Amino acid sequence: MLILGIESSCDETGVALYDTDKGLIADALHTQIEMHRLYGGVVPELASRDHIRRIIPLLNEVMKKAGKTPQDLDAVAVTEGPGLAGALLVGNSVAYGIGLALNISVVGIHHLEGHLLSSLLAEDKPSFPFVALLVSGGHTQIMEVRALGDYELLGETLDDAAGEAFDKTAQALGYSYPGGPAVSALAEKGTPGAIELPRPLIHAPNLDFSFSGLKTAVMNTVRKEPKPLSQEFKNNLARAFVDSVTDVLVTKCLKALKKTGNKSLVAAGGVSANKQLRARLTEACRRRGVKVFFPPQNLCTDNGAMIAAAAGAHLAEIKDLRNKKQGGFSIKP
Ligand code: KG4
Ligand code: ZN
Repeated sequence: MLILGIESSCDETGVALYDTDKGLIADALHTQIEMHRLYGGVVPELASRDHIRRIIPLLNEVMKKAGKTPQDLDAVAVTEGPGLAGALLVGNSVAYGIGLALNISVVGIHHLEGHLLSSLLAEDKPSFPFVALLVSGGHTQIMEVRALGDYELLGETLDDAAGEAFDKTAQALGYSYPGGPAVSALAEKGTPGAIELPRPLIHAPNLDFSFSGLKTAVMNTVRKEPKPLSQEFKNNLARAFVDSVTDVLVTKCLKALKKTGNKSLVAAGGVSANKQLRARLTEACRRRGVKVFFPPQNLCTDNGAMIAAAAGAHLAEIKDLRNKKQGGFSIKP
């Protein structure tokens, strides 16, 4: 099955072609980061208008890259939410327009399920069940993923998302959105333990997170430091921040693995691109005989490929059920 994936929930227009047998065959992405930078955040109206400008050229680009025509498509997958209403409307209008014109199915995908299943795009794919850490700009959640569509939320942030804390830390150190890559690069040059920051809820018995206190601690540390901030201070504060966030995330993942008895962990969402987090999770899991999976580095942040892959998994399951029915197997309700 050849699936066209469309993502337009926020500030990235992502289009991809995914083959349920061959995997990802082409993708194209336009990020609006530069356009919104001027305003210090995403401006919804500008985001919608830019999606309108970009989506058709991106569609043509992936078709050309893959050497396919619209008639080759078997289904269209589109992010149905959550996200900015106007931005979502652009992707959904295009997706349903194509679906109607070609008389093929349109599959609406929850944005977070797209992130959750983005590890299916990696060479080394997880199989169910697994514990998932979903860390993005808007969400920080731990889930038990028992099967496709069978997700139980085990814990989540009570305030800011981990990505948001990265972005605010970057801002305090003079770097613009998205702050994750900048903070990560600074942290690599910082000295561990030179600055101490809190590790919120690390010892709490539950699997919830809280990053707003950490954000405030970063702001207060910056406020007390003589200006202009030295490079050494920036490196050390970024290091302290990354160590604090990764300590909390790793600890909660291990707790969730222990609680559920799972032997596989999947980390996904924008923050899962983080080098330090990947290294820490890999090492902690290796020591406990747990296998850890990540999406490809370039598919951690928003993209059309994860939406197409999620739809591919659902469509494959439906096809599987149909085949079983035709083969005379009984299906449990
Ligand atoms: O998943 P995503 O693209 O968008 C949402 O659905 O929210 O995640 C964006 C977030 C931003 O906060 C960005 O700073 C963070 O992911 N991010 C990173 C890295 N790359 C992106 N955080 C830490 N390290 C990175 N390398
Ligand atoms: Zn996202």
